Amino acid sequence: MSALQQREQWGSKIGFILAAMGSAVGLGNIWRFSYVTGESGGAAFLLIYLACIIAIGIPILMAEFSIGRRAQSDVVGSFETIAPGKPWVLAGFLGVASAFIILSFYGVVAGWSLHYFTQYFTGGPAIGDAGGYGDYFGGFITSPVQPLFWQFLFMALTVGIVYGGVKKGIEMWNKILMPGLALLVIGLAGYSLTLGGAGEAITFLFAPDWSAFGDPEVYLAALGQAFFSLSLGMGALITYGSYLSKEEKLPGAAVSVATLDTLFAIIAGLMIFPAVFAFGISPDSGPGLVFITLPEIFAEMTGGMIFGFLFFFLLSAAAITSGVSLLEVAVAYFMRRFSWSRKKAAVIIGGIIFVLGVPSSLGNGVLSHVTIGGLEILDAADFLASNIFLPLGGLMIALFVGWGWQKSDALKESDFGDTVFGNLWVFILRFVAPILILIVFLNAIGLF
Ligand code: PHE
Repeated sequence: MSALQQREQWGSKIGFILAAMGSAVGLGNIWRFSYVTGESGGAAFLLIYLACIIAIGIPILMAEFSIGRRAQSDVVGSFETIAPGKPWVLAGFLGVASAFIILSFYGVVAGWSLHYFTQYFTGGPAIGDAGGYGDYFGGFITSPVQPLFWQFLFMALTVGIVYGGVKKGIEMWNKILMPGLALLVIGLAGYSLTLGGAGEAITFLFAPDWSAFGDPEVYLAALGQAFFSLSLGMGALITYGSYLSKEEKLPGAAVSVATLDTLFAIIAGLMIFPAVFAFGISPDSGPGLVFITLPEIFAEMTGGMIFGFLFFFLLSAAAITSGVSLLEVAVAYFMRRFSWSRKKAAVIIGGIIFVLGVPSSLGNGVLSHVTIGGLEILDAADFLASNIFLPLGGLMIALFVGWGWQKSDALKESDFGDTVFGNLWVFILRFVAPILILIVFLNAIGLF
């Protein structure tokens, strides 16, 4: 793309907010939130997660929007434009690397969702007489070829949308599909709460086991989940902010995105956990949790097949709008850096990311003997990107806006101006967020 060519822009203000929401709401809210909450013991994790969203997440979200809109460039280009010749650009490269890693395993799980969607098209997963949904899920993810097919399909759809360009491809989808998913998740949560596990689920989610606050891993898991769920720390929101013209008021947008994303996660928890307890599934079943629990709910409901079909359709769509934002980070960078066309960048990078994801898929089956730090390949990729790269990227972004930018510029570019909230925001970016992230890191490696 020549420098003279106009950069793409969102078609409307609401288009930007919806796209940012589409990026945030995805498998992170339903699949990842529920299994990580289940593994981390429930309420204590949830409280720390909420604290991370408020004290670290929203301020960094604002930082990303402000950087992107000011610089009008991709993640790497944004740091180069605002602070030429400074090391901040490392945050940009880290972001591109995170996009590759996250989308590689995200595509695998999104592929599972697509597979379940098509199963409900034809009457639901066929579990046979003896087996249950756990066996079905296990059989599916361990098979060598099938999950790869669905992962490929997901990546092809994601590439197709990015190929079509930011506005046409990304904006439109979010307008229809997100409200649909929200309604369905609320409805299913209502139903799930009638299944007999409601009391246990509420205790699990909202009555903290105080001893869990002493476990450093719960803090790291909550921090990683906050970053992952808000699409934070890797420039997805810098990139989306860069397609924004000056009119939008950023603080309102940031708070709306974070609020919606968090509500989605909590309601998803109210959908999953009552059923987990009602059907005697173990909350710490790991990444398969929603794929085992939800089919139980659908099997129980009148018309459950239709709900199953709708649910996995909308979940897959939500995964696509998140996948698109991940791919867009890398595509925007390669387009500018190597003067590739959007189409070429989308196809090449999408292809590379598919191949990178293959080991994550096979790690559930033929490569299950391969573990990294005790984790299967998919979980290890997720851990590295979500719990380490994203918070590290977020740390650099906070420090950049807090210390690398003139305070008056930061206040102006964020639309805060010299107000109480603006000053609080800069204070958080300078001190609170970096210190909290560092403490969580140091604590996790056992320094305290
Ligand atoms: N936030 C997305 C989700 O919850 C995942 C994502 C992470 C998207 C990082 C972009 C960047 O599914």
